[in-house]
Amino acid sequence: GTPLLVDRFGRVARDLRVSLTEKCSLRCVYCMPEEGLPAIPRDRLLTAAEVARLVGIGVRELGVRDIRFTGGEPLLRADLAEIIERSAREADGVPLSLTTNGIGLDKRVRALRDAGLTRINISLDTIDREHFARLTRRDRLPAVLAGIRAAHEAGLTPLKINAVLLRDTLAGAGDLLAWALSTGSRLRFIEQMPLDADGAWTREDLVSAAELLDVLGRRFELSPVGRHEASAPAEEWAVRGYEVDGAPATVGIIASVTRPFCADCDRTRVTAEGAVRSCLFGDEETDLRALLRDGADDEAIADRWRSAMWVKQAGHGMDRADFVRPVTSMGAIGG
Ligand code: GTP
Ligand code: 5AD
Ligand code: SF4
Repeated sequence: GTPLLVDRFGRVARDLRVSLTEKCSLRCVYCMPEEGLPAIPRDRLLTAAEVARLVGIGVRELGVRDIRFTGGEPLLRADLAEIIERSAREADGVPLSLTTNGIGLDKRVRALRDAGLTRINISLDTIDREHFARLTRRDRLPAVLAGIRAAHEAGLTPLKINAVLLRDTLAGAGDLLAWALSTGSRLRFIEQMPLDADGAWTREDLVSAAELLDVLGRRFELSPVGRHEASAPAEEWAVRGYEVDGAPATVGIIASVTRPFCADCDRTRVTAEGAVRSCLFGDEETDLRALLRDGADDEAIADRWRSAMWVKQAGHGMDRADFVRPVTSMGAIGG
């Protein structure tokens, strides 16, 4: 068979996202239920060694070229530095990055960098403390800001900031952009997808990329510069008169709902329990953990992983009359 992770539509998955836990220190309304997700029993979670083995198989056997650890909140894995260190040994120079809410990062960022982490994306939707507390259900904005500062100080740049677009915070989008530019971070706004735990998402309430551009356009002069790569989820706009690291500043928009990029998707996901999920919007899972624990060789695991790509759908299908939301919320998939 073909060595790469190819799906029925000819897309090749080179971007691996590994979720490390279902736990989180926040409860963002668009992602997690108030009470948190059901705990995964410890013996069902992949160990650091198992994660690293999958990373190695992905890189050596399957053509993976980019690896990202997500959650829940990956900083809640006490062994995160070990996971990164072991993965770096298997990854053959392929970059390892982290998507995190930043809480607790200030104390650990140097250890993570020294373990081999190359890049960090931090989720932050607003710099207004009351808005932050309402939408994350936790009053932790200062901790997030401390994490962002520490990541810059540790030299883990370019640092990206992900902001999900919400009705409540839209008026503050310009303030968030001005602040991000002042810290030298790359801000990306994200259209909210129907992956909340409470089923509250509606198309009518969606804050679209078009609406955001309207709000930002009143304060900044923006001009479109396209995507960094065909498979990049964000479209970029140059912000006139601002620079970051000596280059013209940009702001990104990930318009998953109004301008879907599924046709160019290059992702494959592994859950915290060691199953392959081919799409955010596909509830089908293909387990690899049993093979890992039964002493299967790399080739057998790679074969099962390749076969998991064949259930990958053409796209999220949100615009189809028969669209059904996945039962798994974002918190359990890891974005
Ligand atoms: P970079 O490599 O820095 O570009 O990171 P990334 O954008 O791949 O990863 P990140 O975790 O920062 O994801 C940003 C946002 O993109 C997520 O919060 C999701 O909202 C969205 N996203 C990630 N993966 C997918 C996907 O497969 N499909 C869709 N529709 N959206 C996705
Ligand atoms: N729609 C879009 N993005 C989401 N995220 C969490 N839930 C959603 C959603 N429903 C984002 C977070 C973070 C990443 C892990 O996923 O803001 O950046
Ligand atoms: Fe936690 Fe991120 Fe989900 Fe917020 S979006 S609840 S920080 S996993």
